[in-house]
Amino acid sequence: VKQVGKQAAKAARPVDKLAVLGAGIMGGGIAYQAAVTGTPVILKDIRQEALELGIDTATKALDRQVAKGKMDESTKKDCLNLIEPTLEFDGFDRVGLVVEAVVENEKIKHAVLTETESKLPSEAILTSNTSTISITSLAQGLQRPENFCGMHFFNPVPMMPLVEVIRGEKSSETAVATAVACALKMGKTPIVVNDCPGFLVNRVLFPYFNAFNRLLHDGVDFQRIDRVMEAFGWPMGPAYLADVVGLDTMVHADEVLQAGYPERMGHDHKPIIEELLEQGALGQKNGRGFYDYSNGPRNKQA
Ligand code: 3HC
Repeated sequence: VKQVGKQAAKAARPVDKLAVLGAGIMGGGIAYQAAVTGTPVILKDIRQEALELGIDTATKALDRQVAKGKMDESTKKDCLNLIEPTLEFDGFDRVGLVVEAVVENEKIKHAVLTETESKLPSEAILTSNTSTISITSLAQGLQRPENFCGMHFFNPVPMMPLVEVIRGEKSSETAVATAVACALKMGKTPIVVNDCPGFLVNRVLFPYFNAFNRLLHDGVDFQRIDRVMEAFGWPMGPAYLADVVGLDTMVHADEVLQAGYPERMGHDHKPIIEELLEQGALGQKNGRGFYDYSNGPRNKQA
């Protein structure tokens, strides 16, 4: 990381202001991380309720810091002031780097990226927080694909150190270096990876989820699997982790991986995560996933 950091520092463009598109759990977390490390950030969404959720995510993460005695109320206020919520593209002409974190849907991402590019200064770097979609294919239709690369954070953003910086076919060294420098400035551990469906982490993570699905299909109880994996030493078992990530994001990512690696990532039965999603369960974000969250965190489901 030190080596990558040194190279990035040389080739990177300075970024005095960030923008985050999509104020969901990831977008809110990324905005928090920028603000808490001192960079002003515009948080844009198309819905007021979503913006409020994003600010709420950031506020809760700041509250945790205050509760732990690591931050005082006035610093918390200063951090919140660094986050500018907006429904429009106000201030995008002064932004150095954008992280797109809208819903994991290629068509929507294309539309959002193309529109955003037209509002940015020509030297600004545009990145996507996609967890699986190819960066080369997302770059299609952009006027300046050389200024585009992936910047994949993990959930919960304040706690997860890793950021995958993904180099698409047309990404310039400057784009990659700027994303690496930004991740470092945000206190994260960037790794540069080449473009392919799922990049590095999800190519490791999804075979694990596939094995989990197979066990469920064989009739093993999800809570039992969680208990075993947590006793094994992992911070959370696969059912709880799927709820944290969001079942919609899980299913989208799974579809991309199946299409990318049909031999290795195909299913011989419908994954239970998909069935739950069809019943309207999105995981923690709507209070219903493998577990029921209506009475607080991780209540056991009947
Ligand atoms: N936001 C901010 N901070 C949080 C948090 C959140 N949502 N949840 C927990 N924390 C902090 C707590 O404040 C606490 O901080 P402290 O150590 O300074 O006091 C610390 O995390 C530990 O919290 P808890 O004791 O309440 O709970 P845990 O011990 O279970 O830790 C966890 C929480 C850090 C989230 C841990 O469970 C963990 O590491 N889970 C794995 C998460 C993971 O694998 N994420 C990747 C998902 S994959 C993904 O995002 C990619 C996508 O493409 C699929």
